Amino acid sequence: MSTRSTISKKAAITDPDQGPGTRRKRMTVPDFMARKGGEPLVCLTSYTAHVAHICDQVCDLLLVGDSLGMVIHGMPNTLGVTLEHMIMHGQAVVRGADKTLVVVDMPFGSFEESPQAAFRNASRVIKETGCHAVKLEGGVEMAPTIQYLSRRGIPVMAHIGLMPQAMNTMGGFKAVRDEALWDRVIEDAKAVEAAGAFAVVIEGVAAPLADRITAEVAIPTIGIGASAQCDGQILVFEDMVGLLPRVPTFVKRYGAMEEMMRAAVGQYAEEVRARSFPGDEHTYKKK
Ligand code: KIV
Repeated sequence: MSTRSTISKKAAITDPDQGPGTRRKRMTVPDFMARKGGEPLVCLTSYTAHVAHICDQVCDLLLVGDSLGMVIHGMPNTLGVTLEHMIMHGQAVVRGADKTLVVVDMPFGSFEESPQAAFRNASRVIKETGCHAVKLEGGVEMAPTIQYLSRRGIPVMAHIGLMPQAMNTMGGFKAVRDEALWDRVIEDAKAVEAAGAFAVVIEGVAAPLADRITAEVAIPTIGIGASAQCDGQILVFEDMVGLLPRVPTFVKRYGAMEEMMRAAVGQYAEEVRARSFPGDEHTYKKK
């Protein structure tokens, strides 16, 4: 049985334009770009088929972020994430998502060496996962790579501001707040736009800087720790549903999944120890 067929079809959303029982068509890169300055774009990370299916009902874009190294695999940062990790989780998310644009992150070491190496690895990601675009961190210095990929059929979402893959050169995860550093980020935004990026994630910057970039570039800006005036927002799904204990300033917890899961595991353990689970209703009867 395929993963897709194990996912409930009951929750399929109704397309308001087409009537009951129909689904909105899949968001494409041009559709996404057309939302610049319009209805805010709803984006979340996803690493698994079932979470993708849940988010698919309401999101415009799902990002298979390299944050999966920390969130799923318990790594201390994103630097150890490999192309194989990204491909495996990308395949799962594509199986779970029917309507959203699925973007897979290029992990550290898979795109920086040359535009050609980036193309080789990004085309593997596209071919092996079926995703629609890739994301890569970097501004001015990555512009030639963004141009190389996007002119050869690989849509690229850029990622500027706080770039987690640069943590060693930046001395950690540092938000860009100091006005003396703003020009560099504006240059990065304009460079990735000119290179053909279809959108740009702006992470961890002062809100007025994100507002300025949003006003000055013609591609959608997607904020994380940026500003409500960006063209869209993205959060890590597990942060947003309250599954991770650390809550950075830019995260709003919309749920309390960690507490719910701890309570469920605790009750299960109690019932197993008391032999009250499985109950009569959970056991097969003799035929
Ligand atoms: O890896 C990731 O999840 C990201 C988003 C937080 C933008 O890059």
